[in-house]
Parts: sequence; structure tokens; C-alpha cells
Amino acid sequence: MGPVIVLSKVSKTFRVGRERIRAVADVDLSVQKGEILAIVGPSGSGKTTLAHLIGGLSRPDEGSVSAGGQMLRTRDKILSKYRNQKIGFVFQTFGLLPHYSALENVSMPLVVAGMRRRRRRELALKTLAAVGLEKQAKQRAETLSGGQRQRVAIARALVTSPQVIIADEPTGSLDSENGEQIMQLLERLSRIQDITVIFVTHDLTLAKRADRIVHMRDGQLTEADHAR
Ligand SMILES: Nc1ncnc2c1ncn2[C@@H]1O[C@H](COP(=O)(O)OP(=O)(O)OP(=O)(O)O)[C@@H](O)[C@H]1O
Ligand SMILES: [Mg+2]
Repeated sequence: MGPVIVLSKVSKTFRVGRERIRAVADVDLSVQKGEILAIVGPSGSGKTTLAHLIGGLSRPDEGSVSAGGQMLRTRDKILSKYRNQKIGFVFQTFGLLPHYSALENVSMPLVVAGMRRRRRRELALKTLAAVGLEKQAKQRAETLSGGQRQRVAIARALVTSPQVIIADEPTGSLDSENGEQIMQLLERLSRIQDITVIFVTHDLTLAKRADRIVHMRDGQLTEADHAR
């Protein structure tokens, strides 16, 4: 089985005033189907920028990103379809719509995909059940606990059956017990549904549970070691 994600000589530079910040520099990376990959590194080293490039949320200045054997070109249509259907994104601060229910939040990507209401509801409920939140489906996101919100965010990422989940500090806003639950959930998804999980973390203990850890420093992947 070939890799699902391949980055080849990917760079991204930001311009702030007259300064140029090379947030990601010449990165090569392949991620296999079903693999759990942890990205670690100091603050400002380029982890979020890299995660966004992998997820098609931003485009490289140089180099190429391909997913499922297909090169992500710069055409908006292909990129937005990729973001909507192939990738699930989980952010540190959850990114939910606070006044909407858990069910409505999870249904959102299906609205974008053009699915009919009844089918949307069915699928969103099933996905909420998969993260243990069937009872909270009607509850507004702002009334949920941090751990519950992050599980809603994961359900939203999962609802389109993506091949890859990219999670930027998914446990960063959670206490250790809730963080542990989220980690177990991601592991289960990878093992049972063969989903590729790429997660950014500051927590080395969590990173060690990945199949592989890559370290970022000054925009470069400095080393890669196999945790198992
Ligand atoms: N939109 C932007 N405009 C300008 N500079 C940016 C932008 N996004 C990121 N940067 C800069 O690029 C570098 C890498 O940022 P990035 O957010 O990828 O780091 P990070 O490793 O995720 O850090 P943290 O662990 O603090 O989240 C930083 O110097 C940051 O200031
Ligand atoms: Mg970051």
C-alpha cells in the first residue's frame, strides 16, 4: 500500500512588513494509510503551518503536496473538495459554532457536500454516537464541556468518512483525563477504520503513542524516529 500523503520539498514563507518568515522549509514527508503520526516541536517551529499545508487549508510556495496519489493543484474547486471530503480537521480551540447544537455542528460538512436533510441527520447522529455523545446531540455547543466539545469537533471531522484526520493540538485545551479520552478515540479510529491520523502536540507522552514521531525545528523536519 502506497502512502496517502506525500509532501515533496514543500516550503511556505510569510511576509510581515519587510520581513520574511520561512515557516516551513523544504519539507519531505510521506504518511502511510492507517498510520498515526505525531508532529512535535517548539512554539513557532511551523507545526500548524505544516498541518494546514497537508490539509489543503493553505498552499505551498514551493514543492508539492499529494493525497491519495493525486497532486493537490492550486485550483480552488479541487482543493475545497479535498478539504470537504478527504480530510477531517480538528483544531485546538474546537472551532464549533457555539449557538448551534452538537448535531447541527456535525451536520455542517454534509450541508456543504449537498446531502439531503434526513440522511444528514442520520449520519450525524451515528457519528455522534461513535464518539459517545448520542445523549448530547441536541445540546448547544456552548453548553458542552471542553472534552465533549472536542469530541463534537472530532465527529464533525469524521462525518464525511475522510481518509485522513489532521488534529492540531487536539488535547491542548483539555485536562489530562479528557486528553486521554481524545487520544484513545483517535487511536481507535486509526485501528478500526484504518484512518490516517496526523496530530500536532506539545506533549511528548502523547506523541510516544504514535506509530512515528517527526520533530520540527525552524520550519524543518529535523529527525524522524520510530516510536515502535
Ligand atoms: N499567517 C501568518 N502570517 C505571518 N506569519 C505567520 C503566519 N502564520 C504563521 N506565521 C509564522 O510562522 C512561524 C510558524 O508558525 P506556526 O503557527 O506554524 O508555529 P507552531 O509550531 O504551530 O507554533 P505553536 O506551537 O506556538 O502553535 C511563526 O514564526 C509564525 O509567527
Ligand atoms: Mg501551532
